[in-house]
Amino acid sequence: MRILAVVNQKGGVGKSNVVMNLAAVAAAHSRVLVLDADHLQQTATSWAEAAEAAGKALPYDFDAVDDVAVLSQMREFDEYDLILVDTPGTLADSELPRLNAILDNSDFVVLPIEPKFNSIRPLVTTIDRLVRPRGLPYRVLLSRVRRDEPGRKRRDETIATLDELGQPHFQSDVREYTVHEDAPMTGDVVTTYPPSRGAIGALDDFKSLALELNSIWANGGK
Ligand SMILES: Nc1ncnc2c1ncn2[C@@H]1O[C@H](COP(=O)(O)OP(=O)(O)OP(=O)(O)O)[C@@H](O)[C@H]1O
Ligand SMILES: [Mg+2]
Repeated sequence: MRILAVVNQKGGVGKSNVVMNLAAVAAAHSRVLVLDADHLQQTATSWAEAAEAAGKALPYDFDAVDDVAVLSQMREFDEYDLILVDTPGTLADSELPRLNAILDNSDFVVLPIEPKFNSIRPLVTTIDRLVRPRGLPYRVLLSRVRRDEPGRKRRDETIATLDELGQPHFQSDVREYTVHEDAPMTGDVVTTYPPSRGAIGALDDFKSLALELNSIWANGGK
């Protein structure tokens, strides 16, 4: 079983989107549990509630857990192949016990960032404070990547900065699609988005990401 935490102290970078949609793709082949440990925003929880209200069962199990004691025992949920944990977008003192419990029990960390110049500093702080001290394997994930020319340019510049800093990143991106914005309200996930060109692109992104993660894990997970 693997536990994957999606972390970044910066809010609004797409953590909850990545958790809910990566889980949907992974659920095609694995028994997946999503834990919403972000009791401040509860984005994933509202999303799961919208799915239930619309009669669209999520293809994975879901639970909201903010109790540090429960988060410390996640590994006992051994009926799952993969647990994805959504986390609060802050390193505030009130959240640190929760973040520490999650990371103490995680196998891998995904850090979504937006391709913006002011994304790097909070990213590096998050890595230095939570990830590096534990020696956890991790990758930075470019999220909300705009598909127009300036968006792609900014994406390439951000990748170059990460390379200069020696920060490992995924090759796959999560691009910006309107369908993602609607999903938390409709309760859809990327495998059930209503057919459209955007839905195909959005699904492709998460399939690529899942494949890349699997190949990282197949090569020892570092
Ligand atoms: N790839 C994307 N394309 C379009 N919109 C996106 C994408 N990813 C996220 N969003 C939108 O951006 C906003 C923030 O996303 P999300 O809630 O996933 O971020 P977060 O990092 O979990 O934020 P918080 O720290 O507040 O929990 C939401 O309105 C979401 O619908
Ligand atoms: Mg969130």
